[in-house]
Amino acid sequence: MTRSRFDSLAPVDCHPLRGVIFDMDGVLTDTIEFHYQTWQRLADEEGIPFSRQANEALRGLSRRDSLLRILQGRVLPEATIQELLERKNRYFRSFIETMTADYLLPGVQVFLKDLREAGIKTAVASASQNVYIVIEKLGIASDIDVITNVYDVDRPKPAPDVFLYAAQQLGLGPEDCVVFEDAESGVEAARAAQMRVIGLGDAAQVGAADWVLPGLEGVRWHHIQAKLNPGV
Ligand code: G6P
Ligand code: MG
Repeated sequence: MTRSRFDSLAPVDCHPLRGVIFDMDGVLTDTIEFHYQTWQRLADEEGIPFSRQANEALRGLSRRDSLLRILQGRVLPEATIQELLERKNRYFRSFIETMTADYLLPGVQVFLKDLREAGIKTAVASASQNVYIVIEKLGIASDIDVITNVYDVDRPKPAPDVFLYAAQQLGLGPEDCVVFEDAESGVEAARAAQMRVIGLGDAAQVGAADWVLPGLEGVRWHHIQAKLNPGV
C-alpha cells in the first residue's frame, strides 16, 4: 500500500471499515463528458480557448473554481461571473434532464447492492450542486444513506470538509470510512480527512490513493476489505 504523501499519518489499516463515501461525477456516473461539452460551449461563446484535455484538470473542482481555471487569470466583474456560471448550469441541466439509470458507470448497481448486503453505510459527497437531481435521475437514491455536497460545508475539495461532514452524517468517524474518487483534488481531500481512499481511473490523477482501480466493474466489498483491512 502506498502512503507516499502521508507517511506520517497514524496507520488506520486495522480499523474495520463501516462506511463508503462516493464522489459522484466520474465515479458513479460519467457526467465528465456533459461537463466538458457545456464548458466548451460556454468557452466558444466567450472566445476563450478550451479543450477536452483542459477539462480533465477540472475534475472534482466546484463550478466556480472550474470557471476561474478556464478564465486563466482574466478578471471579470462578479455579475459577469455569475451570468457565466448560470449559463453553464442551464446547458448542463438540459443534459441532466435526459439522464436515466443507463448513465450509471459499469459495476455501480452491483457494488451498491453488495454494500447493502454487507451492512455498510453509504454516502455521496460531491462538488456538484446538482448532486440530488443526478442521484434521483440515476435511480439510486434508495441505495444511498446520505447525500451531500460542498455547498453544505465551508470549503470545497481539496479541503477535507465535505468528506468529514458526510462521515458525521453517517454517524461514523474518518477511520471508519473509505472514499472512492476519480479526481486529484478529491483524493487530496480524502487524505486530508485522514480517510482511506480508492482512486478510480488515471493514476496521473489519483496515484496518491491507497489503491488505484480502473473503475467499479467487478469490484466487490470483500476485495476492498482484503486490500484495506487485511486480517480483520
Ligand atoms: C464535479 C465535477 C466537476 C464539476 C463539479 C461542479 O465535481 O467533477 O467537473 O465542475 O462537480 O458541478 P455542478 O453540477 O455544481 O456544476
Ligand atoms: Mg469526480
